[in-house]
Amino acid sequence: MDTIADIAARRRTLKLLPDPASPLRGDGLDRETVDALIAATGWAPFHRACPAGRDGTAAPEPWRVHALDKPACLALMPRLDAFARPPAKISNMLAAADAMLLITWLPEEGSEDWAASDINMEHIAAAGAAIQTLLLAATEQGIGSYWSSGGCLASREVLRYLGAEEGEVLLGAVFLWPADIPGDVEAAPGKLRARRTPAAKWARWVDMHDRDAPSR
Ligand SMILES: Cc1cc2nc3c(=O)[nH]c(=O)nc-3n(C[C@H](O)[C@H](O)[C@H](O)COP(=O)(O)O)c2cc1C
Repeated sequence: MDTIADIAARRRTLKLLPDPASPLRGDGLDRETVDALIAATGWAPFHRACPAGRDGTAAPEPWRVHALDKPACLALMPRLDAFARPPAKISNMLAAADAMLLITWLPEEGSEDWAASDINMEHIAAAGAAIQTLLLAATEQGIGSYWSSGGCLASREVLRYLGAEEGEVLLGAVFLWPADIPGDVEAAPGKLRARRTPAAKWARWVDMHDRDAPSR
């Protein structure tokens, strides 16, 4: 059986960029499969509860998930042209995706989107943990994925159009890919994948015998 470490190492960014005029064929992922991934996502830790009623759901989790199945991805693709921000490569990826999930976080009440606060930092951290849980669950199922910042999908207009509440801020657009990818489809890895370093570069043990007692 695969360990979490195996699955974490197997997860990798894959960007699929077919011509939007020639979307990949297939039915996409069924909603049951995506719902199971979303349920796994919901086990991410979170430290601060969203105030009840922040977005009308009363859910204390600081993240929200908006899922689009393949027909919805294909329907959205041409409609993005109507919004101010150009869709650029998002259109290509919608043409390839078996499903796409928008994961947003909810800033604390009274703070504008990006106000620096301990609470907002922890909300973003929790939503990031939710996204990684989603990616690991997808990888375990053999489903390829890509965590994108979202480009035009992050704009308020597009989020509002898709039914997100006013305060939600996009943290990631997660594209889920089909198993069979035609050989002529442009595919790209994550640009930092090859620059990963071993843990010894960014982790250390703290030896207390090296440390003098702190003076008051
Ligand atoms: C918060 C976040 C946002 C990301 N947004 C993008 C993006 O907009 N475009 C992109 O090419 N990759 C994006 N990535 C994926 C990274 O480029 C990728 O994780 C990195 O290159 C390492 O590759 P790997 O995931 O295969 O290990 C994002 C990753 C994170 C964590």
